[in-house]
Amino acid sequence: MFCVSGLTKDFDGKAVFSGVNLTVTRNRFAVLIGPSGCGKSTFFDVLTGVIPADAGTMSWQGEKVGHLGDLAAYMHQKDLLLPWFSLLENSLLPAKTAGDNLQQARLHATKLFSRLGLSGYEDYLPYQVSGGMRQRCALVRTLMFNRDLILLDEPLSALDAITRKSLQSLLLLLQSEFNRTLVMITHDVDEALLLADDLYLLSTKPMGIVEKIVLQGEKPRRFDNPELLLMKEVIMQKLEGDIEHVS
Ligand SMILES: Nc1ncnc2c1ncn2[C@@H]1O[C@H](COP(=O)(O)OP(=O)(O)O)[C@@H](O)[C@H]1O
Ligand SMILES: [Mg+2]
Repeated sequence: MFCVSGLTKDFDGKAVFSGVNLTVTRNRFAVLIGPSGCGKSTFFDVLTGVIPADAGTMSWQGEKVGHLGDLAAYMHQKDLLLPWFSLLENSLLPAKTAGDNLQQARLHATKLFSRLGLSGYEDYLPYQVSGGMRQRCALVRTLMFNRDLILLDEPLSALDAITRKSLQSLLLLLQSEFNRTLVMITHDVDEALLLADDLYLLSTKPMGIVEKIVLQGEKPRRFDNPELLLMKEVIMQKLEGDIEHVS
């Protein structure tokens, strides 16, 4: 679906990442995992053209593009809901910006509210609902962009464990029911193992992709599977080894 090659970004003459290559296939769930501060958000900002790359190229379905900003829906770690708009109004912002038919968009958003467990909360303001519900609303808004590719920057990291679990199922729904291709960055090994088809381990200083692991097995996965537990051990050791190496 898209491919980046030799992607490089410096801050103040120091490489945040350099020469990153990544190919993502349609309808996969790709997860990039690395520790906090390694450059993950910067990588997504460069992918989406929020900040310019210092070197490298990107292509979309074989065609060269400047960045993926107009091709992907980008969901940030914070829900970024506008506090003075209701949840439904927030979810309609992409349709308003794109100049879509608002009546249709409203109908579509209302269906998504129902599918994502938000029925009855359409007219609430963001501060009146829980963090998990705000993230659900942010997911609806992300879907309202109607893009095949969704980039997720640690979307669940601010949530408690129970809420997080139900939202993990929703992320899988984006892939299985809404046919989206997902690329998520996270520092959470458990989450990565539960969700990913393709798992990329990141190095630090500079950030780079050191290994790709293709995970098999039906999703949702469970940690009572000994193979998954073993995989978790191996990945933890690799990530910890990298941190010790640089510090
Ligand atoms: N605009 C900026 N100018 C200089 N340094 C920055 C800027 N943005 C981020 N950084 C630095 O780049 C590194 C990577 O940050 P970030 O991409 O947010 O990491 P992560 O998302 O993996 O936690 C951090 O050390 C951060 O301090
Ligand atoms: Mg980040």
